[in-house]
Amino acid sequence: MADKLIIFDTTLRDGEQSPGASMTKDEKLRIARQLERLKVDVIEAGFAASSNGDFEAVQSIANAIKDSTICSLSRANDRDISRAAEALKGANSARIHTFIATSPLHMEKKLRMTPEQVLEQAKQAVRFARNLVSDIEFSPEDGYRSEPDFLCRVLEAVIAEGATTINVPDTVGYAIPELYGHFIKNLRERIPNSDKAIWSVHCHNDLGMAVANSLAGVKIGGARQVECTINGLGERAGNCSLEEVVMAVKTRRDYFNLDLGIDTRHIVAASRMVSQTTGFVVQPNKAVVGANAFAHASGIHQDGVLKARDTYEIMRAEDVGWSANKIVLGKLSGRNAFKQRLQELGVQLESESEINVAFTKFKELADRKSEIFDEDILALVSDESVTAEKEQYGFVSLFQQSETGELPRARIVFTVDGQEVRSESEGNGPVDASLKAIEAHVKSGAEMVLYSVNAISGSTESQGEVTVRLQNSGRVVNGVGADPDIVVASAKAYLSALNKLQSKADRVAAQG
Ligand code: KIV
Ligand code: ZN
Repeated sequence: MADKLIIFDTTLRDGEQSPGASMTKDEKLRIARQLERLKVDVIEAGFAASSNGDFEAVQSIANAIKDSTICSLSRANDRDISRAAEALKGANSARIHTFIATSPLHMEKKLRMTPEQVLEQAKQAVRFARNLVSDIEFSPEDGYRSEPDFLCRVLEAVIAEGATTINVPDTVGYAIPELYGHFIKNLRERIPNSDKAIWSVHCHNDLGMAVANSLAGVKIGGARQVECTINGLGERAGNCSLEEVVMAVKTRRDYFNLDLGIDTRHIVAASRMVSQTTGFVVQPNKAVVGANAFAHASGIHQDGVLKARDTYEIMRAEDVGWSANKIVLGKLSGRNAFKQRLQELGVQLESESEINVAFTKFKELADRKSEIFDEDILALVSDESVTAEKEQYGFVSLFQQSETGELPRARIVFTVDGQEVRSESEGNGPVDASLKAIEAHVKSGAEMVLYSVNAISGSTESQGEVTVRLQNSGRVVNGVGADPDIVVASAKAYLSALNKLQSKADRVAAQG
């Protein structure tokens, strides 16, 4: 019988640590619901002790999600662990993931602790956590750059204290597949009680090898859990990508001989949801979820695929949920059809009033755009004005004028804590004028570090999706806005980024 490979998704924790990818509680809950539909085994919902917002996000996910194990990260101290346990109280199945760095560099320079102190703290943390929850994961941070002898002592000790999963992070993405695979194998062979825990891999993508390293950890090292994120989201070059690792194991079952619980038909929807929520656009040639992943532009390839699909395709597009550019709804679609499509897309709005707001927005959009695609619906429900979450700034209306040879002008109406304000400005172009008009009133002083526009469903008739990345006082946030008018989409994205700058003020960094 084949072993099962556990898929541990950390989009909402490690993915969210990526500068600009921070998500609100409602956004996290929506993504968690999609991960549950995907049948992810473990969802790392956040780092409960890092902020009140993250605590509430972990708590609401633990209360709402019933089919996946819900996990919270915590540093190896009693306070963090207690916060994690408290946030996880409502979960059907809860896991605490505690970690402490074990590499010489991290212990000396970051923690300023001796190896013996680190060993004691790791044991104490697992012992403490074990009294609160039975499912305990331990990670030696920067594990791959740790001294193997010391690492063996730490891991043997935490297993003896009751850790049920041992995760070996390649925190800085330094590993090479064969070496990482043997590193895990060696640890498992040397540690006498290694069979009492499930072994897990956690690889960062700094050298572009996170997926290859994770697969080597599974194949050579015998790991049976992979930690990954949707679209490979994560700090710096990101984490191991869920869709790639899952489809590699599924497509090459002949080689891996492992079972997966994942319902791969929801992969593309999950990818779009994460991209639209965070503003991290998926590159067209990204494996599995990129727009070109199943497109056959060359005549030779098209001819081959038409004669026999497997001449050039090793996976079926529909198996990962590509039904893109299918017109799903139109102007005449009713509330029930809209509600059903939301359900099929894995979007659960919290209340009837949210559904009503979303449906009104859908009708407005359908009046302006004859064909409505899944991407449009997802963008529409990502709009902050649909969710109950009270935001400081909200878009109302925009007028802008531009003509060749004239300086463009914009006049915008938006809400600040529910009160309408009007502001106007000139600018280099209509987008510039509109954002300057907002800034003239708000005076955030934030620096714009990225502005990008993407056509949601590919043509000029489609909605424009704009990402604005703002930086202020050391914090970076992404705002996303969608509208058939890209100037309006830009204003929405700017206001969304301002809201995020407001809401994520005090946060403890996970690995700081
Ligand atoms: O990369 C890392 O080391 C981590 C740990 C906290 C597991 O994310
Ligand atoms: Zn990590």
